[in-house]
Amino acid sequence: MEILGIDVGGSGIKGALVNAETGEMLTERYRIPTPSSRKPEDMAKVIAQIVDHFKYKGPVGCGFPTIVKNGVCQSPGNLHPSWVGVNIDELFTKATGHEFTVLNDADAAGYASMNYGVGKGKEGLIIMITIGTGLGSGAFYNGILLPNFELGQIPFKKYKKIEHYAAASAKEREGLTFEKWGKRFNKFLKLVELIISPDLIIVGGGTSKRWQEFNHLITIETDVVKAELMNHAGIIGAAVACLREQHHGHLD
Ligand code: BGC
Repeated sequence: MEILGIDVGGSGIKGALVNAETGEMLTERYRIPTPSSRKPEDMAKVIAQIVDHFKYKGPVGCGFPTIVKNGVCQSPGNLHPSWVGVNIDELFTKATGHEFTVLNDADAAGYASMNYGVGKGKEGLIIMITIGTGLGSGAFYNGILLPNFELGQIPFKKYKKIEHYAAASAKEREGLTFEKWGKRFNKFLKLVELIISPDLIIVGGGTSKRWQEFNHLITIETDVVKAELMNHAGIIGAAVACLREQHHGHLD
């Protein structure tokens, strides 16, 4: 089934048509910068532009960069604080006339890797980490999603949250080289390893495209691999989640 997958990020909102049964992307990715206000109404307009671009008719799967419970935003993430309490599902349905399945963006990226990428068939605790404006995390235990893991929120010194220290936006903001930033990312992974002892960590998100420039700085014991689907995982996983909801009436 062909489904439109949308990945909402702090800097860009991206969509593509996906074959949700095979995980294959059927079109080029279409990207519109996230409105600088990062407010609900402004972002809903961009979502409508993306749906229109594909002249799409069916249900939409959408990865969203905050905690999402039953379609409702529960935390601001790196968006405007007025998002908290908004029913994202309803807002986007109103803006587009389409049915939406909304879930956390890193959970969506994890779905793609667990179904069609390096996580396929892997047992135990698998953690998807996405590096972008924030640090996202999706957790799967024996293939089942434990929604809304928020490892990027671990308190860290004066940075308050570790994502302010080790996400791609920190690299940009502080003008860090890959060498410097990579050490920070490794520190984050060390904490993740200490706290939850995962069996495998999969690294995705925009910065994973530059894997060669920082993977030598990763020194933890746990296996850490690059998501082959890289920054397409969020789009593909959102479409997969939408298909699941169509079939089962819920995500798991
Ligand atoms: C949010 C997460 C999100 C991550 C990546 C964080 O700021 O708290 O929910 O997955 O950014 O977008």
